[in-house]
This record gives sequence, C-alpha cells and structure tokens, in this order.
Amino acid sequence: MLTAASRRLDTMPDNKNHWYDGLFYDLFIAPNQDEAFAQVKELLSEGATILDIGCGTGRLASQLLDKCGKIVIIDPSERNIRIARRKFAGLPSEKLMVGRMDAFEFLATNDFHFDFITMSYVIHEIHEDDRDILLRAASAVADRIILVEYLAPQPRNFCGVLNQLVEYAAGPGHYRNFKSFMRKGGITGLLKELHLKMLNELKTRPCSSHIAVVEGKKGRDKSGNVLPSRWETGTRSSIVK
Ligand SMILES: C[S@@+](CC[C@H](N)C(=O)[O-])C[C@H]1O[C@@H](n2cnc3c(N)ncnc32)[C@H](O)[C@@H]1O
Repeated sequence: MLTAASRRLDTMPDNKNHWYDGLFYDLFIAPNQDEAFAQVKELLSEGATILDIGCGTGRLASQLLDKCGKIVIIDPSERNIRIARRKFAGLPSEKLMVGRMDAFEFLATNDFHFDFITMSYVIHEIHEDDRDILLRAASAVADRIILVEYLAPQPRNFCGVLNQLVEYAAGPGHYRNFKSFMRKGGITGLLKELHLKMLNELKTRPCSSHIAVVEGKKGRDKSGNVLPSRWETGTRSSIVK
C-alpha cells in the first residue's frame, strides 16, 4: 500500500530532484530553518534514536548529531542526498545512516522502531491523499513524531507572503499540495482527522512555523511486543543504497 502511494506523488519527477535541490537548498533555504532545528533539538531526549524523513541536505541531522544516539536520514532527492553524504562522510554507520529513498518505500520495507521521527517541511509537499498514509505508517514505528511545518493559516504579514511566493516558485504540483495542506488546517487539521494526539506544540517561532510533537505507537506489534530493529541487531538494511 505504501509503495503504491509513493507512485502518486506528483511533486517528484523520476529523477527525484526539485530545481532548487542541492547546493542552492543547502546555502539559501536550509539555513533559514536553524531556529526551528534548535527547538527540535530541545524536544529530544539525550541519546535518542531518530529517523529524519525528507532530510534534505542533512542540516537538521548535523544539528542533532551530538545529542542523539543514532540517526537515519532519508530523502528521495539525489542532489540533496549527495550533499548529505558528503557532509557525513567518515561517520560510522552505527551513528548515522543516509539513504536515498522516499518515506513510503522506507516505512514499507524496514522494521526499525525509533524514539523519534522528525519531518521538517515535508508533509505539505505530500499529496493530500497520501499524508494520512505517511503519518500513520510513521506513528506505528515511533514513540514520538516531531513535525515542523507552515503554520495554518499563514499570518498576513511579510513572512506569510514570502512563504506563498516560495511555494509558488517551487512548481504547480508543489503549490497545489501546499494550498491543500493550508485549506485542511495544516498540522492541527491533519492530526485531528487522523485522531493522532498532539503532546506539545510551538507556534510562530520561527516566524510562521508550527512545531508539533505527536504521540506515536512506540513501534509495537498488536500484542504489544516491541518491533525488532534490524539496525540494532547489526544487519545493514536496504536503506543504504
Ligand atoms: C522543503 S524540503 C525540507 C528539507 C529539510 N527537512 C529541511 O527542513 O531543511 C522537503 C524535503 O522533503 C523531501 N520529500 C518529498 N517527498 C518525500 C517523500 N515521499 N519521502 C521522503 N522525503 C520526501 C524532498 O525531497 C525535500 O528534500
């Protein structure tokens, strides 16, 4: 079901790159998220295992490295992942793993569980029919999900207008998804629809952002047993491509 959903993503052409991915993203876009990333770091427990979905060029991961135990970062964008791999070259795979893979594929083919899954500015890019699939799959294997997203509705100020322009410039499919994310009430609307519990939230710092901590199902099967983690048992998983 997850892989079928991933085929519907209309923001991702076959080469899995947006025009702004890679160096442009790393130099001009990702640094704007530093304030949000610092807040995400505060929300983590020391030594936590993390899956960062839609890691971009790895800027969030580099900020979390000294606090987390292990971190897996994935993104389907070839150019973003190339930069992330360069950034983390030399780090042992017990500490960090980088995968060029979309989240649907990863969650369908790996049975890790994580203390935290982070998704920073990813959900609004996902087609409206697929957001629930992604969040449900993520919540099944994590204790907590930390979402960083655009606040909905966006403020009627400079930040709000700038965000609209940036999303418009990202392309028609991307903009459609952003608009539908806003129309449906952003993170708050989505969590309500999915009956997922918001444990904590921070609004408007940084400007026009919404950070939410969502309760996950702690990676347990129907009988309450913790899912095995191939990572912890030492087997290298399919994420390393
Ligand atoms: C706006 S960027 C955010 C990057 C990074 N998280 C940050 O905050 O700087 C959104 C990222 O989500 C990734 N993405 C989009 N669809 C995805 C999917 N189905 N699975 C995983 N990542 C996805 C894109 O490739 C892109 O790198």
